[in-house]
Amino acid sequence: MHVVILGAGSVGCFIGGAWQAAGLSVSFIGRERVRDEVARHGLMLSDHEGWRVRLAHDLVDFSTKPAALAKADVIALCVKSSDTEAAARQISAHAKRKPVVISFQNGIDNVERLSAALPSLEIIQGMVPFNIAHLGDGRWHKGTSGELAAGRSQATEAIAARAKSGPARLRLADDMVGLAWGKLLINLNNAVNALSGETLLDQLSKRDYRRVVAASMVETLDLLAAAGIEPAQVGPLSPKLLPHAIAAPDFIFKNLLLRVQKIDPQARSSMADDLAAGRTTEVDYLNGEVVRLAERLGRNAPVNRTIVNLIKQREAGVEQLWSPDQLRKYVMEGHRGVAIFGY
Ligand SMILES: NC(=O)c1ccc[n+]([C@@H]2O[C@H](COP(=O)([O-])OP(=O)(O)OC[C@H]3O[C@@H](n4cnc5c(N)ncnc54)[C@H](OP(=O)(O)O)[C@@H]3O)[C@@H](O)[C@H]2O)c1
Repeated sequence: MHVVILGAGSVGCFIGGAWQAAGLSVSFIGRERVRDEVARHGLMLSDHEGWRVRLAHDLVDFSTKPAALAKADVIALCVKSSDTEAAARQISAHAKRKPVVISFQNGIDNVERLSAALPSLEIIQGMVPFNIAHLGDGRWHKGTSGELAAGRSQATEAIAARAKSGPARLRLADDMVGLAWGKLLINLNNAVNALSGETLLDQLSKRDYRRVVAASMVETLDLLAAAGIEPAQVGPLSPKLLPHAIAAPDFIFKNLLLRVQKIDPQARSSMADDLAAGRTTEVDYLNGEVVRLAERLGRNAPVNRTIVNLIKQREAGVEQLWSPDQLRKYVMEGHRGVAIFGY
C-alpha cells in the first residue's frame, strides 16, 4: 500500500515522515520551496516528548507534480481548506488506483466537498489534534500533545496496524463528526490569536482575549445542541468545560490548562502566519462554519460573525491589531451595545 501526501507543508511533512519512519511506503507532493528545503536537509522531525527521526534527503520521494498521484493507494490530503477543490481536481485527473482519500484538514465540510467532487472514491475524515511548527532547515516539530485520528476503513486499519507508536500512531474513531467539531471548538482561538498579533502564550495569558474565545465557544456549543450534534473531547477538557476553563481568572487558567497543554513560547496560530504571509486564512471554514450552521438553523451567530468580519478586514489589508479590552468590547458588546455572555 502506497501513501501519497498531497500538500506537503507542516502537517503533510510531519505525518508523511512519521509514517515513513514507521515503515509505510510514502511519497510527498508539495511546492518547490519545500522540495528544495527537503533536498538540502532531509526531513528532521521531533516532538515535545523527545521523539526524534531523521530521513536523509535521498530517502524522501518528493515531487512538485500532481502526476505523482498515479501511484497512490491512499492519499493523505493536507492542503488548507481553501485548496480542497483544486486538490480534488488534481486527484480526479491523475489518480489511477481508486485511492482512498483521508482529509487531515481542519474544518467540518472538507469530506463533504471531496465526496461531491470525487463521487467514486472513498473519502475518510481524519483529525490532527496537535500543533506542528515548521522550524526551517528541514525541521518540523510537534509542539503539543494528542494523537492522530481517522475514521475506520480497510485503508486506515492497515495504516494503524503499521503506525503503532510515537506521533505516527493513528487512532481509529467512530465519531469523526463529533471529533471534527471538538477540534473546531479549539481552533476558535486561531482567529483571536491572529487579531491579537501576539504569540499564543502571550495572547492566552490575557483574560479578555480568552473571554472572546469562550464567547465564540459558548455560541457554537449552543448551536450544536440545537442541531443535535455532540462535539467530542479533543484535549484535556470536555467541550462543555472548555469555555469555562478558558474564561476563568488568570491564575486558574494558567494552573489548569497551561500546565497540561504545553505550548512553545514562539508559537502563533496558523491564521496569524497566513495573515503575515498575505495568504487567505481558513476563517471561513472555522468561525465561518459556525455562522453557516446558525443560518441553517434560522439563527444568528453574532460573536463568530463579527470575528469572521474582522479577519476578512485583515485579509483585505487593514493592519489593525486589537488589544484585549478593545476586542472584548467590540465583539461582545461594542457595536451592538449589549453584553452577550456573562464572561
Ligand atoms: N499546522 C498545524 O499545526 C495544523 C494542525 C492541525 C491541523 N492543521 C490543518 O491541516 C491543514 C494543513 O495545514 P498546514 O499547516 O500543514 O498548511 P501548510 O503548511 O500551508 O501546508 C500545505 C501545503 O500544501 C501546499 N499545497 C496546496 N495545494 C497544493 C497542491 N494542489 N499540490 C501541492 N501542494 C499544495 C501549500 O502550498 P501554498 O502555500 O503555496 O499554497 C502548502 O505548502 C489545514 O487545514 C490546517 O488547518 C494544521
